[in-house]
Amino acid sequence: AARITLTRLTEMKAQAEPIVMVTAYDHPGARLAERAGADMLLVGDSGAQVVLGYDATVRVSVDEMITLSAAVRRGADRALVVCDLPFGSTEASDAQAVETAVRFVREAGADAVKLEGGNPDRASRIRAIVAAGIPVVGHVGLTPQTATQLGGLRAQGRTAESARRVVTDALAVQAAGASALVIEAVPSEVVAAVLPRLEIPVIGIGAGPADGQVLVLHDLLGITEGRQARFVKRFAELGDAVVGGIEAYAAEVRSGAFPAPEHQYPASPEAVRAALE
Ligand code: KIV
Ligand code: NA
Repeated sequence: AARITLTRLTEMKAQAEPIVMVTAYDHPGARLAERAGADMLLVGDSGAQVVLGYDATVRVSVDEMITLSAAVRRGADRALVVCDLPFGSTEASDAQAVETAVRFVREAGADAVKLEGGNPDRASRIRAIVAAGIPVVGHVGLTPQTATQLGGLRAQGRTAESARRVVTDALAVQAAGASALVIEAVPSEVVAAVLPRLEIPVIGIGAGPADGQVLVLHDLLGITEGRQARFVKRFAELGDAVVGGIEAYAAEVRSGAFPAPEHQYPASPEAVRAALE
C-alpha cells in the first residue's frame, strides 16, 4: 500500500474518511499497527509511563524518545510516523525547538514532530520548526507536559474560560502552520464548535467525533494496569493473554514438560562420547 503522506491525510479529511492513529514505542508495535492498517503512528511521550515505567511524561529524555522513535520508524513502511518532542526540549527558545526537531528527523526518521500547547510561545516554536522544513502536529486541550498548570490530568474546555482557551489554542496552532492537530480530553460539543474553523485534520482523544482518533496502544489492547481515563476503550485483553502465556511456560518449566525432545538439538554419537571423556 502507498505511504501515507500529509497530503493524503488532508484528502481523507476532505472525503470524511476517518484517520486511524495509534501510539507505538517499538519495532513490533509498529509492525503490528501497520498490519492492522493504522494510518499514523505516534511515538508518544506517554512512552515514559507505558514502556519506560516513569511516573510522568515529563521524565522522558530526547535520547530515550529518539531510541523509541527510530525503532518505530524501522517498523513503519506505510504509516506516517509522528514523534513527540518531550518536555524540556523546546521550552528555551525557537532555536532549541528546531534543533530538537531536526534530531528527530535525522536520527529517528520522523515524518513529523508533535508539540503541546497553543500560547504565543508555542505558536512561535511551531512556526520555527515548520520554517525549518519539518511538519508539525499540534496538541491542545489536556496537554500532559503542563498538566500541573492545568490542575492535573483532567478534561479541559468544561468552563467558559477553558473552552475559550481550547479554541484560541487550536486556531493559533493552525495559524502557525501545523499540518494536523490532536485535541485531548475536551467535551465533544466544544470540539464540534471549533471543527468547522479548522482546515487541518483534527485527531481526537477523549474529544468525541473528529477527523480521526488516537489511543495509546497499551490502553486499547488491555495491557495497561489500574485506573484509566474515561476516553479509553479496551478492544482486547492482551495483558491477561500475556500472563496466561507466561504462566503456561512457567508451569511446564516447573513440571519438566518443557523443553520436550523437539525443542532439543540432536548430537552425533561422537559428540556425546567426546563430551563424556
Ligand atoms: O503521548 C501520547 O500518547 C499522546 C497521545 C495521547 C495524543 O500525546
Ligand atoms: Na504526548
